[in-house]
Amino acid sequence: MLTNYFDGDVAQRYDAGSAAMFAPEVLGPTVDLLVDLAGGGAALELAIGTGRVALPLSERGVPVHGIELSEAMVEQLRAKPGGADLEVAVGDMTSTRVDGRFRLVYLVFNTIGNVTTQDGQVAVFQNAADHLDPGGCFLVETLVPVVRKIPPGERFSVFAHTDAHVGIDEYDVATQRTWSHHYSSSDGETYHRRSIPFRYTWPAELDLMARLAGMRLRDRWADWDRSPFTGESVKHVSVWQKADTPAS
Ligand SMILES: C[S@@+](CC[C@H](N)C(=O)[O-])C[C@H]1O[C@@H](n2cnc3c(N)ncnc32)[C@H](O)[C@@H]1O
Repeated sequence: MLTNYFDGDVAQRYDAGSAAMFAPEVLGPTVDLLVDLAGGGAALELAIGTGRVALPLSERGVPVHGIELSEAMVEQLRAKPGGADLEVAVGDMTSTRVDGRFRLVYLVFNTIGNVTTQDGQVAVFQNAADHLDPGGCFLVETLVPVVRKIPPGERFSVFAHTDAHVGIDEYDVATQRTWSHHYSSSDGETYHRRSIPFRYTWPAELDLMARLAGMRLRDRWADWDRSPFTGESVKHVSVWQKADTPAS
């Protein structure tokens, strides 16, 4: 049974809490690249959330569909201008199908890591490929694992430390599982903990998942501006292409 970590209050506060990700300097290059990849066709966003990317993409003339686990996130999307016009299926992106085939399927903001098993992540790639037209592209934006910051024997890394919020990432390198622990406080004394599990992957493992699903790496960039991906890159925007003709 899948846990919905984006229910209730979390969905209501999502846009305010992710304000930096709504900034024009972030969304501008994101949408530009997605418009190019859609190439005049339709796009499907896996884990569409509150429509942070889907709505501006739709405003640029790309027909966008979505799959999303959290009904509460979809409610936020539907309350926005244009949100009710997008077709969104509520369900798990490892298996939920929507009607039609797409030129582009995309999954952004590290959300491949919210699927916490290798089998589940392989299923996401297969589901993406099954929704693509021949020659269509699957794009993933996600972090490069930061496990290089964890010395042998250590499990924890502090990523935020203020009176209002203490954030600690926990790593288990044996299973590639991580947990982001968020301790929030309104008075700087009493803290409420919220922990979210992830599974981290190196880019090469994602390339193999793509190949299992009949796709090949087409491009890998360090960011949406198509800057080169290097050993110093902290994230990647990767694009795999489905074969033009089905394998015989
Ligand atoms: C970080 S938010 C990203 C939302 C949106 N894509 C964005 O960029 O703002 C992660 C989203 O993934 C959704 N999610 C997590 N696991 C999922 C799954 N297995 N299937 C579909 N959606 C899922 C969550 O409900 C949440 O809306």
